[in-house]
Amino acid sequence: IDTAIIQRTELSLTLNLILENLLPQLQVDAADILLYEPAAQELHYAAGRGFRSSALQHTRLRLDEGCAGRVATERQVVHLSNLRERKTSFLRSPLFASEEFETYIGIPLTVKEELEGVLEIFQRAPLDPSPGWMEFLESLATQAAISIDNASLFDGLQRANQEIVRAYDSTLEGWARALELRDLETAGHTQRVVGLTLRLARAMGISEVDLEQVRRGALLHDIGKMVVPDGILQKPGPLTETEREIMRQHPVHAYEILSPIQFLRPALDIPYCHHEKWDGTGYPRGLKGEEIPLVARIFAVVDVWDALTSDRSYRKAWPREKALAYLREQSGSHFDPQVVEFFIRVLDGGK
Ligand code: C2E
Ligand code: SIN
Ligand code: SIN
Ligand code: FE
Ligand code: FE
Repeated sequence: IDTAIIQRTELSLTLNLILENLLPQLQVDAADILLYEPAAQELHYAAGRGFRSSALQHTRLRLDEGCAGRVATERQVVHLSNLRERKTSFLRSPLFASEEFETYIGIPLTVKEELEGVLEIFQRAPLDPSPGWMEFLESLATQAAISIDNASLFDGLQRANQEIVRAYDSTLEGWARALELRDLETAGHTQRVVGLTLRLARAMGISEVDLEQVRRGALLHDIGKMVVPDGILQKPGPLTETEREIMRQHPVHAYEILSPIQFLRPALDIPYCHHEKWDGTGYPRGLKGEEIPLVARIFAVVDVWDALTSDRSYRKAWPREKALAYLREQSGSHFDPQVVEFFIRVLDGGK
């Protein structure tokens, strides 16, 4: 049982293991475990063994109901004999009589004063527990309580983690929208390149876990443009050499903005390397071939495709065929040829 608890075995398996040991060791006929749900302030049936009927399987009790409610509220062992002659709340279940139980022992399950549930024991004969018997029962109850407590801690942690990730991701989407609002003509660009990049990356065998980072990287790919003045970013015509120099700093700014954020470090490849070129003539570092992270090589094709097929402040959108011809022409110089090949296949598949 301790091993099951330490290995974080699924709760229902651990509880069943406890009952499986309890019945023969304590020589009792039946036992069940009710879990306490603090939000509903209710006890509900989680595991049972030794019952003839389903009498107790649908048990759901408020704390002021039933024997188990009393055990929970008083945090004390309740021991009832002559069950058949008593008018207990068990009579609400018509099947309960067919169980022919004589004796009931309920024991509260607590960890550091917190109620986790109730362990119930049923015997079809009178029961006169010895101190050793009670001690063993109490140690099983402690194990049950600890495993319930662990399970809810773990669930709670997982839920909290998922909430944090969701909160981060909606923050990132907010940043991406802020960038689009400033760089008016790229409206929709971000969502399109995110979608197309994920499709291409998946087709090229990037794992689902890494795709999460690809998605974040694509979403933030031009975050460095935050630092570029409006006069350059929104200029209707071609850039001067000085303006071009400033514009070419945007991947470096992306690195400066994102690298201190631990959560986004694995997503940096795209914002930092999306303007590198296969033949080494790109910026900011002039990386060449496979020195460029694969996800950045993938993203570069998608980014240029989407840029060319969209209106920009400095030119009108190109027709599809012209843009495709351009990708083919740049395959092996600007782009990784294998990525271009996959991209064309993904585009065709999407039609
Ligand atoms: P962007 O508009 O999102 O373009 C991304 C990339 O797509 C460009 O990276 C380039 O590789 C490709 N691309 C876009 N438009 C064209 C085009 O008309 N012809 C060709 N051959 N390729 C094109 P690049 O060149 O490093 O530019 C990065 C960013 O710099 C661009 O992002 C845009 O914001 C800005 N930019 C580039 N050229 C100009 C320009 O002539 N005028 C202005 N106002 N901004 C420019
Ligand atoms: C219980 O105490 O196990 C619930 C059954 C009942 O009291 O109705
Ligand atoms: C830039 O480098 O981002 C400016 C435009 C260009 O290089 O053509
Ligand atoms: Fe860029
Ligand atoms: Fe872009």
